[in-house]
Amino acid sequence: MVNAKGGCGKTTVATNLCAAYAMRGVAVGLVDNDGQGSGAYWTAQRPADAPQVELTGLGRPALDRIVIDGHTSGSEREVDELVAMTDVILVPVLPSTIDIRAGERFITAIMTRPKFRAAPRPIGVIANRVQHNTAAQARLMHFLGCLNVPVAVTLRDSPLYGDAMGSGLGVADLFDVRSARKEMTAWRALVDWVEDQMPARADRPRPLAAGRPSAEAGGGIPAKARSVLGSRRRTAPGPPKGPRPQRLSA
Ligand SMILES: Nc1ncnc2c1ncn2[C@@H]1O[C@H](COP(=O)(O)OP(=O)(O)OP(=O)(O)O)[C@@H](O)[C@H]1O
Ligand SMILES: [Mg+2]
Repeated sequence: MVNAKGGCGKTTVATNLCAAYAMRGVAVGLVDNDGQGSGAYWTAQRPADAPQVELTGLGRPALDRIVIDGHTSGSEREVDELVAMTDVILVPVLPSTIDIRAGERFITAIMTRPKFRAAPRPIGVIANRVQHNTAAQARLMHFLGCLNVPVAVTLRDSPLYGDAMGSGLGVADLFDVRSARKEMTAWRALVDWVEDQMPARADRPRPLAAGRPSAEAGGGIPAKARSVLGSRRRTAPGPPKGPRPQRLSA
């Protein structure tokens, strides 16, 4: 999760993505590179009965997925390091002119680095805090169209995000909160999008590979993950069984 622009939603998206993976039964860790300890705070606040998200460092083979809340100044060295350590790069962008310009510069900087060009990774934009049918949304979509980078997901501007963050939760945990249900679709879609971008590697588990051709899926899928994740293509999954619904404390 990267963008040199502050406040675009890196921590919000990183924590929510972790919660969405955890809700699917995936062993997921969050790397807090935010510089403000936001991810550490979020994991500390997370209720004990919510699906677990581990605060972690890089290189933890016991975890199936690691989400990096990747605060960066956008320096060339940092960009190279980020590219080297990630399978999928997500760039949240807000729909203001300044944010769009900054996002464009940042994504262009990544894509023109020699190290990226030598070994390109999928990049997806998260169109964040979008209010549908506004001029700002139209601007953002126009910019993204020009850049030729896919929009992984569009997230609404919603107070749910601030509230959930303070309680160590993500939207995916809030399946008994009526106003969160619409937004949950976006998180299911984002997990699916990321999984569709993941490289097939024989040396790592593919927790979300259920439903794909077995030759591509490889042999290392944990049975629990396979059963939980086999439902990823359902269009209208009911509330997940197992973890208890969470209520916002605020
Ligand atoms: N979709 C959204 N709807 C409403 N508020 C949001 C949304 N996404 C982010 N926010 C709010 O915007 C603020 C900034 O978000 P966040 O801290 O995730 O950005 P960041 O990119 O991690 O910032 P920094 O660069 O300082 O690390 C927070 O108050 C967060 O609650
Ligand atoms: Mg942050």
